[in-house]
Amino acid sequence: MRPTLVEKTIYFVTDNVHKLREVALIGRQMGFDIQPLHGLKVEIQSDSIEEVSRKSALLAYFIAGKPILVEDAGLFIEALNGFPGPYSSYVYKTIGINGVLKLMKGVEDRRACFKSAATVIYGPYVITEVGEVCGWLAEEPRGVQGFGFDPIFIPEGSTRTFGEMSVEEKNALSHRARSVSNALGKLKSLMTQT
Ligand code: IMP
Repeated sequence: MRPTLVEKTIYFVTDNVHKLREVALIGRQMGFDIQPLHGLKVEIQSDSIEEVSRKSALLAYFIAGKPILVEDAGLFIEALNGFPGPYSSYVYKTIGINGVLKLMKGVEDRRACFKSAATVIYGPYVITEVGEVCGWLAEEPRGVQGFGFDPIFIPEGSTRTFGEMSVEEKNALSHRARSVSNALGKLKSLMTQT
């Protein structure tokens, strides 16, 4: 008899339904069942998204005691020396997309990168991986898909913003798809070694 493939469940600590949709799809494609775990994301103060994701994941793991995935991301704008970076969430909530566009008014260099750090804790394994996508800031918001700064970010090689892309299209390019698939890929290979 052929052995049945049992999907491993990992609890994704997030209250963001868009992130959940993106990450659940990656998980499914890699043989993991990603389930949301709400209300457990503790944002520690740090200039490093890797440190935020790792420490938040350890904290969630100690509280929940089950396999955990935490992802932390930010938008790093070249002309603003990487601002808002790890403070993207606060900047989004306070000045928002229009505030960022105002800061960028008349600025010729519109290069920016999204960076993401994903930490998976499963059994004895604690894995942190990063992912990045660079591109440009649009002059005005375009598209209604996704969340956060998606409507003003045009990834390299595209003419459309993330806000104009489906989840599948965004996942083919995004910082989050890279960090999460790297982390799940590493976990998979560690699990098959033992
Ligand atoms: P978080 O702390 O990882 O939730 O992300 C911080 C902020 O960065 C979010 O509130 C968004 O405004 C922005 N951000 C992170 N990832 C993305 C993305 O994939 N698209 C658009 N904005 C994002």
